[in-house]
Amino acid sequence: MQIVSVVGARPQFVKLAPIAHAAARAGIDHKIVHTGQHYDPMLSDVFFEQLGIPAPDRHLGVGSGSHGVQTGAMLAKLDEVFTDLQPDWVLTYGDTNSTIAAALSAVKLHFPVAHLEAGLRSFNRAMPEEINRILTDHASDLLLAPTQVAADHLASEGLADKTVIVGDVMTDVLMSEAANLGDTPSPVAEELGFTDGSYSLATIHRAENTDDPTRLAAIVQSLQNLDHPVVLLAHPRTVAKAKDQGLDLSGGSLYLHEPLSYANLLASARRARGVITDSGGLQKEAFLLRVLTTTVRPQTEWVETVELGWNELVEPDGIIQAATREKPQSTDATPYGDGHAADRVVSVLSSSGR
Ligand code: UD1
Repeated sequence: MQIVSVVGARPQFVKLAPIAHAAARAGIDHKIVHTGQHYDPMLSDVFFEQLGIPAPDRHLGVGSGSHGVQTGAMLAKLDEVFTDLQPDWVLTYGDTNSTIAAALSAVKLHFPVAHLEAGLRSFNRAMPEEINRILTDHASDLLLAPTQVAADHLASEGLADKTVIVGDVMTDVLMSEAANLGDTPSPVAEELGFTDGSYSLATIHRAENTDDPTRLAAIVQSLQNLDHPVVLLAHPRTVAKAKDQGLDLSGGSLYLHEPLSYANLLASARRARGVITDSGGLQKEAFLLRVLTTTVRPQTEWVETVELGWNELVEPDGIIQAATREKPQSTDATPYGDGHAADRVVSVLSSSGR
């Protein structure tokens, strides 16, 4: 039994970590293919090092480009890699261009494909991620859904018989890494001289927020005018777009900071007043850490965070009000599983291989 995981972008490395560990525990031959979609060390290498992920067996080095150029380069190279490796399962993660490339190449070569984090929907077809996840779900042979809501979406698209609810692997990695942190102070608070609970963390990188100059300027203005300090952990896409637009990503309450490693992100987020983001992963991480979240998007795939009161969806002009609200009632709800999703994934793949 050989499982070939295809990853390429930062959130996929986080999801890969518990799978790689579970595969090793089960004695499964697990190969890792890195497409090279993310190549900056702080978006890639640091996750492999800190989360104990084995070095990729293949690195495709595709780099950045338009959707077509980037996805096409991956397809051409993945065809060769899969033909060479002859996987029993190709495991594809999430909703990036690396996700759809892996699914499309594998299904056309008749290698079984499993989609991890299947069934998420924003119902916003303008998002590249929405197209990637819908097409990947429909191309895949096995749909590994993180939640009941995701499984319901798949059922409504006629995909119930391929669906298994396994829980969310991001819960696995968060639980184990948070346990390792102990009393570690917040790296961001220490560096910038803030006290615990006095600052917010922000990440903004979605194309729909960064590529429209008016919208990006409105987000930055709201962050600058917040009544408490906010540290923007800036993705290279955001830095590049702000530069093109002549926009300063600091000033007022806003502090510009490079991206953090996973452990430093958790250590900084758990002692923050709140999180302001458009990331899918961070919405969930903040919820799991019970940190107030403000999401700068019209929709979220992680609806449970909103329903339970910990996440509010806003337009740029709603950031200040939402980010200064009080914490909601505490909850012990566990919509994202019990921290053992990766073992379930490996077990399902092992029992349903060719
Ligand atoms: C991608 C995913 C998005 C995910 C995000 C996580 C798609 C369509 N989008 O968005 O779903 O939330 O990853 O971070 O796959 N860049 C660098 N260094 C890098 C990588 C990118 O400087 O290592 C810059 C380049 O200017 C590049 C831009 O960021 O053009 C965008 O990168 P890209 O991989 O196209 O998408 P992300 O915005 O990272």
